[in-house]
This record gives sequence, C-alpha cells and structure tokens, in this order.
Amino acid sequence: MRNKITIVGAGFVGATAAHWCAVKELGDVVLVDIVEGMPQGKALDLLQAGPVEGYDLHIVGTNDYKETANSDIVVITAGLPRKPGMTREDLVGVNAKIVRGVVENVVAYSPNSIIIVVTNPLDTMVYLAKKVSGFPRERIIGQAGVLDSARMRAFISMELNVSVENIHAFVLGGHGDEMVPLPRYSTVAGIPITELLPPERIAAIVERTRKGGGEIVALLKQGSAFFAPSAATMQMVEAILKDRKMILPCSVYLEGEYGMHDICFGVPVKLGRSGVEQILEIKLTPEEQEAMSRSAALIRSSMAALEL
Ligand code: NAI
Ligand code: 2OP
Repeated sequence: MRNKITIVGAGFVGATAAHWCAVKELGDVVLVDIVEGMPQGKALDLLQAGPVEGYDLHIVGTNDYKETANSDIVVITAGLPRKPGMTREDLVGVNAKIVRGVVENVVAYSPNSIIIVVTNPLDTMVYLAKKVSGFPRERIIGQAGVLDSARMRAFISMELNVSVENIHAFVLGGHGDEMVPLPRYSTVAGIPITELLPPERIAAIVERTRKGGGEIVALLKQGSAFFAPSAATMQMVEAILKDRKMILPCSVYLEGEYGMHDICFGVPVKLGRSGVEQILEIKLTPEEQEAMSRSAALIRSSMAALEL
C-alpha cells in the first residue's frame, strides 16, 4: 500500500511540496485548502503531469478533511506568509488561529499521523501543534533547520566554488533572525570551514544565512520563499517514510536537552519511520550556547502571544 501524505495549505509552499512529493513518488497526495476549487485545480494539474513524468499516484485536492483520513504524514503550510518589513514573529496571532483549527482536524481524521509544521513563526507553531494535538513529541516536527542549513550550504558553495554535495552545514536554534549557524560543525568534504575561510568571510556567510528568508521576501515583494522550503520539507518526509535514519536539524519539543524545557527548538534529530527517533546533543562552546539562549528568548516572546 502506498503512503498517504496530506498537505494543508495549497499556496506556494504547499503546492510546490506536492510537486516534489509527486516527482519523488513519495506517496499519494491530498492537498487541502479553505479556498474552494483551488486545491482541486492544482491537484488535477499535478495529476495530469503524471503521464509525462511517469508517476502513478492518486493526487486530490479538497476543502474537506474527510479525504485526508488515515494519512501517514500531514504537512501544515496553511497560514499567512510575511510581507516586506515583517518578522516571522509578527504572524503569530493570525497563524495561531489557523494552525489550531488545522491540528484539531488532523487529530480527528489522522490520529496516528506524523505532523510536520511549516507555518511561521515556526517554532511557536510547532509548540502550539504539540499542545493542541497531545501527540507524543516524536510525531510533531517543525521544518526550519533543513532550509536554513541548505541556505548556508549554498552560500559556502558559492564562496568556495565547490559542489553543494561536498558541503554539510548545521544551523540550529529558532527559525528567526537569531537562528544559530554553527561554522565549527559546517564542513567541506569533512574539513571545517573554519580551516578554509577567513573569519570575516565566515561572519558574512553566517549573517546572510540568518537573513536568508528576509532577503527573498525583499526581492519578491509579495510572499516568501517556497522552492527551497518545500524541498527541505520533502527531505524530512522522505527520511521518515523511507525510514532513512537521517540526522537533520528540526524543531522539536525539548524536555531538558540543551538545558531547555517546554519549548520547540531546532536541534539535530534522527528521522525514521517513527518520526523523531533520537535527539542528538552536540557539544557547544559557551558562545554557541549563549547564542542558543538568545534564540530561545525570541521564541519564548512569541509563545507568550499564544492562548493555550
Ligand atoms: P501562501 O499564502 O502561498 O499559502 C498559504 C495557504 O494557506 C493559502 O492558499 C491559504 O488559502 C491557505 N490557508 C489559510 N488558512 C487556511 C486554513 N484554515 N486551512 C487550510 N488552508 C488555509 O503562503 P506560503 O508561501 O505557502 O507560506 C505558507 C506558510 O509557510 C507561511 O506562514 C510562511 O511564513 C511559512 N513558511 C515557512 C517556512 C519555514 O521554513 N518554516 C519557509 C517558507 C514559508
Ligand atoms: C523563510 O525563511 C519565510 O520562513 C521563511 O524563507
């Protein structure tokens, strides 16, 4: 039997995620949105690309959660994106209402699913989804670190003119401008970038990574990034459905790891068929730990706006 993947929010990120999902043949897709006709139209269009691309999948669009019943994975992209000049945290009020309603439906129709949250402000929305669903923390995961690390990898690749495949990067912490890129754990063919680049070039890459989402918002002038965010989300979906045991930075509910409690925060985790199978605690310097604390403080300020 094929996997069933529901994507809630058929906007830029959701629809592009469905596209990656089909091309990678990860499973049947249900695309959900509140706008009538739009998810149906996008799903039909994607289905009709199947004969050209060679995938035999069921792809449907709907406004009704009944069609999502018994999904293996539910990806939540429903919500507003930011406009130029806005931070992700500015979205908390409106998106919290949307995410709460979506999660209630997911619990009702797919109680055994794994939820991947994409909606911003990311870590706060993962926390909300965790509290509203009551799911164990293994089954509520936020996408941010895979995207932020991919951006850092792209910038390192541009700087050194080296294949992206040789480059590994770790960006931990919250998905805000206080995110924590870790140059010591970022490598080119296994060599830390701290041995390959001068401090000022590393500082420039770190700064561009932190502001990576805003750079694209400023260029687009309407909406935010969607190709890389949806690709990052689908890497997580693939790691789970194929039980790949991949180590990826994801936002998860912490119970003492990194000295933090009752917060969803980006840390390295192992993703497999049960969702989060392990949380890895890597050694941090006092400066890195301090950066993690600053990032957590920003998340806690947006969590304060939640009505739980
Ligand atoms: P978009 O505006 O293109 O799509 C959002 C969709 O959600 C719209 O089609 C809208 O009709 C739908 N929607 C609104 N309320 C809904 C509800 N109650 N149920 C179902 N659907 C509903 O926005 P885009 O670009 O797709 O971004 C979606 C979200 O993802 C935003 O909050 C954005 O900030 C976030 N995002 C997060 C990233 C991350 O790395 N975590 C990266 C990129 C975007
Ligand atoms: C990004 O980083 C908007 O969070 C989104 O592109």
